[in-house]
Amino acid sequence: MSNTSTTAKTFLEAVKARRTYYGISKQSTISDDQIVSLVQEAVKYSPSSFNSQSARAVVLLGENHDKLWNIVKETLRKIVPADQFASTEQRVDSFKAGYGSVLFFEDTAVIEGLQNQFPSYADNFPKWSNQSSGILQYVVWTLLEEEGLGASLQHYNPLIDEEVKQTWNIPASWQLIAQMPFGTPTAEPGEKQFQPIDERVKIFK
Ligand SMILES: Cc1cc2nc3c(=O)[nH]c(=O)nc-3n(C[C@H](O)[C@H](O)[C@H](O)COP(=O)(O)O)c2cc1C
Repeated sequence: MSNTSTTAKTFLEAVKARRTYYGISKQSTISDDQIVSLVQEAVKYSPSSFNSQSARAVVLLGENHDKLWNIVKETLRKIVPADQFASTEQRVDSFKAGYGSVLFFEDTAVIEGLQNQFPSYADNFPKWSNQSSGILQYVVWTLLEEEGLGASLQHYNPLIDEEVKQTWNIPASWQLIAQMPFGTPTAEPGEKQFQPIDERVKIFK
C-alpha cells in the first residue's frame, strides 16, 4: 500500500465501511438538501457506457417514503400467503421505519436510442445500463454510509412498478431497478463472512 495516495486510502476506508443496515430510524445525520445533493452528485459523476447517462433517481422523503413502503406492503399482501404475511410485513415495516428512500431507474429510451445508433452493440446496452446502475447504487450507498446513515438495497420491482409510476408521475420509459431505504442506524450490521481472497483473485507477474 506504500504507493497509495491519501485519497485512495480514504476511499478504501469508505469501501470497507459500507454495509447493509436493516435497522434504521426516521432520523437523519444530514439535512434533506444534503441528501438531495449527495444523490445529484452521484448521478452526475457515476460513469455510464458511451457516457449515455441513462441513470435516473427519485428521492423520497417524509410521507413519500412512507407511501413507498405502504405500496410495497399492500402489493405483497395480495400475493403472499396470509399465514406468512406477518414476517413480510415486519420486514417491509423495517424499511418504512427509515428516513427516506432512493429509487434507482434506467431510462429505456436512452438505451433504445443507443441500440438504434450502434446496432452492433445492441445486445450489450441493456447489460451496460444495469452495470452503470449498479455503480450508481454503490456510490450512493457508500456516500450515505460516509454521512453516518445506514442503507440497504431492495428489489420489489417489477411488482410495484406501475403504482410507483402513477404515484410519482414517473416517465413511462424509466425502468425501476432498485430501492434503497436509509436512515440513522439503530443496529449494527451482522457479521460478514469473507471467502479466501486467494481463491477469488489470480495474480500473474
Ligand atoms: C446487486 C445486489 C443486489 C442485492 N439485493 C438485495 C435485496 O434485494 N435485498 C436485500 O436485503 N439485500 C440485497 N443486497 C445486499 C446483499 O445481501 C449484501 O450486500 C451482502 O450480503 C453483503 O453484505 P454488506 O452489504 O453488509 O457488505 C444486494 C446486494 C447487491 C450487490
